[in-house]
Amino acid sequence: MAGRGFFLTVEGIDGVGKSTQTRLLAGRLRRLGREVVETREPGGAPGAEAIRRLLVEGDPERWSPETETLLFTAARRDHVERVLEPALARGAVVLCDRYVDSTRAYQGAGGPDQRDLVDLLHRLTIGLDPDLTLIFDLDPAAALARTRDRLTGSGEDRFERKGTAFQARLREEFLRLAAAEPARCTLIDAARPADAVAGQVWAAVAPRLGLAP
Ligand code: TYD
Repeated sequence: MAGRGFFLTVEGIDGVGKSTQTRLLAGRLRRLGREVVETREPGGAPGAEAIRRLLVEGDPERWSPETETLLFTAARRDHVERVLEPALARGAVVLCDRYVDSTRAYQGAGGPDQRDLVDLLHRLTIGLDPDLTLIFDLDPAAALARTRDRLTGSGEDRFERKGTAFQARLREEFLRLAAAEPARCTLIDAARPADAVAGQVWAAVAPRLGLAP
C-alpha cells in the first residue's frame, strides 16, 4: 500500500515538541538528497484544511464524539488521496505530524465503542498504515507549559482546553499503542534536550531508510 516511498508518522500529546523535531529530521534527510514531504493532520490538503477549521476552532463540546470521528476520518481520506498516496507512489519520504494513532488516542478516549468506530472507519475508508510511527512521550504538565506559550491568540485551542487530566489519559493511551505495536512504533523520550531527542529520532529512522545511524 505504501508504494516505493516511506511513510513516517509522529505522534504524542499536545506540546511534546514533535513539530520541531519533524522539521529537523526533514532538513537532515533533504541534505542527504531525499525527497521529503512534510505534512500534518488534521489538514495537509486544501479540503482537509477546510475540515480542520471545523475541528480545531470553537466550543470543546461542539461535535458529538461520532461526528468528530467522522470529520477526522473525512479529512484523512482527502489527505491520503491528494497528498500521501501520490507522494509515496513517487518514492518520497512522507513525514506526517499526527495520523490515525491520534484518532485512536483522542477520539478513542471516548470508550470502547468510539475506539471500535475509529478502527472500523480506518479499515474501510483509509487502509494506509505508517511504515514507522514515532511516539513522543512527555509529562502532561511540562507539555502544557510549552503549548500555553505557543497558542496564545491562535484560536486553535479546542483540544488543549480539555485540560491536563485529559492529556494524562492521552499519554497513557499513546504508551499503550506503542506497546501494542512494537514493530511499527518507537517511543521517543521528549523530556530530554532537543539535540538528544533529535539523536534518538535519527537512530530510529536512519536504519529504516538504509542510512548511517
Ligand atoms: P495539531 O494542530 O496537530 O496540534 P499539535 O500542534 O498540538 O500537534 O492538532 C490539533 C488537535 O487535533 C490536537 O489537539 C490533536 C487533535 N487531533 C485529534 O483529536 N484527532 C486526530 O485524529 C488528529 C489528527 C488530531
